[in-house]
Amino acid sequence: MTSTHKKLSAVILAAGKGTRMKSPVPKILHEIGNLSMLGHVLKLCDACGITDKMIVTGHDAQTVQNHALMLDKSSRFCVQEPQLGTAHAVLQADDFLKKTDGDVVVLYADTPLIHADTIAQMHQIRDAGFDMVFLGFDSDNPSGYGRLITDESGELLEIIEAKDASPEQLKIQLCNSGVIMMNAGMLAGILPQIDNKNAKKEYYLTDIVRVGRKMGLRAGVGLCTQDEMIGVNSQSELAHADLIFQTQKRIEMMVAGVTLQLPQTIYFSYDTVIAGGTVVEPNVYFGKNVTIGTGCHIKASSHLEGATLADNVIVGPFARLRTGTVLEDNVKIGNFVETKTAIVESGAKINHLSYVGDAFVGRNANIGAGTITCNYDGYNKHKTFIESGAFVGSNSSLIAPVTIGKNAYVGTGSVISKNVSADSLAIARTVQREIPEWVTKHKQKNGI
Ligand code: UD1
Ligand code: MG
Repeated sequence: MTSTHKKLSAVILAAGKGTRMKSPVPKILHEIGNLSMLGHVLKLCDACGITDKMIVTGHDAQTVQNHALMLDKSSRFCVQEPQLGTAHAVLQADDFLKKTDGDVVVLYADTPLIHADTIAQMHQIRDAGFDMVFLGFDSDNPSGYGRLITDESGELLEIIEAKDASPEQLKIQLCNSGVIMMNAGMLAGILPQIDNKNAKKEYYLTDIVRVGRKMGLRAGVGLCTQDEMIGVNSQSELAHADLIFQTQKRIEMMVAGVTLQLPQTIYFSYDTVIAGGTVVEPNVYFGKNVTIGTGCHIKASSHLEGATLADNVIVGPFARLRTGTVLEDNVKIGNFVETKTAIVESGAKINHLSYVGDAFVGRNANIGAGTITCNYDGYNKHKTFIESGAFVGSNSSLIAPVTIGKNAYVGTGSVISKNVSADSLAIARTVQREIPEWVTKHKQKNGI
């Protein structure tokens, strides 16, 4: 970010209750693309180079604080109790603001989709000589939002909350997002001057425009889209925010050269990484922590999480790759195969109906249909090693801990409970026997 205001800090408001979510989980811990809304705001801070951030907590403060620390150990907190309005919330970060050099941006944990570019744009407006910058957006349906009242030059004169607005002011479509940027010390100086003489009897952060202008400060407006500013108050707004996020993620993927078939049916996590040249078929779900190289083909209705795929890997249809799956180049995982904590070396094939867990599968090994690694004895998990070039016949059970040696061959239908040496054949199934004319005699005996 190029700016003369070198240092930027953040105050993140996260005290609200989220009654309308009707969930025992605090509102801002609900997830979009498998990352909490608060996590998205912390990620935005990262992307903007913001290291100093103060999170204002309130409802369920301990849960929120624990979650924030898990995501970012440098998070700091204050508590707002009771909640008397947005200015009162920021006032709880008074100490932090007074000790902060440079600018601060006020963000909201329930407004998770703001882009780093938008924050950079606010910086530019600061650089153009405005003391405070508000982020606004145009809306066809501005209903409950505060309205930005500007003069012809675009300078911000006042913010009127919907509940305090005249019918004429309610026609204004330029809405307040709530996000502001200004010098931290200056904000700390203005906050105590704000009162609660308004329709909601709350301390409005938006009043800093009125108070600031009286002190001779100038306020400017940065613009973003309404999609970026979506605030989440209910489960359906959460789903809508996730849809906006998914749409962005799909576009990013396609711009990077990933082919998405029916992109609207593919679900991404916030951290999904796929290299250009890979094809993803419809109805694929990418859980957290998936990285995929180039030239791969992820076939329809597969479910991946915590998996790392190198190049030219084929997966699915209907495959489930679970956490700890590592697939090297040219691996093939076919339909109804589940893998978990499995390292599969290049060229190996697990093509049909298998469970491969806590396992190592060596280069070019072939795992036949229906093979199961029996990794769990009811108490502990054990490992299976299938060395390179090994061939495991269909419908075999490999009872871990067990090793199938290099180039070894396991006969179909075996239950393998002992190690198999390299280059050996192991068969562990009952020997077939035949009783001639049994059917004829059986029929005669029973008069069939
Ligand atoms: C606020 C803005 C409004 C803007 C809208 C955008 C004010 C006075 N108004 O209105 O101009 O259009 O956001 O969504 O700022 N919060 C606290 N503590 C409090 C009150 C609020 O932490 O005491 C947090 C809430 O959890 C929420 C955010 O601040 O994340 C906004 O509060 P909310 O009550 O939703 O404000 P709005 O009335 O929507
Ligand atoms: Mg609101």
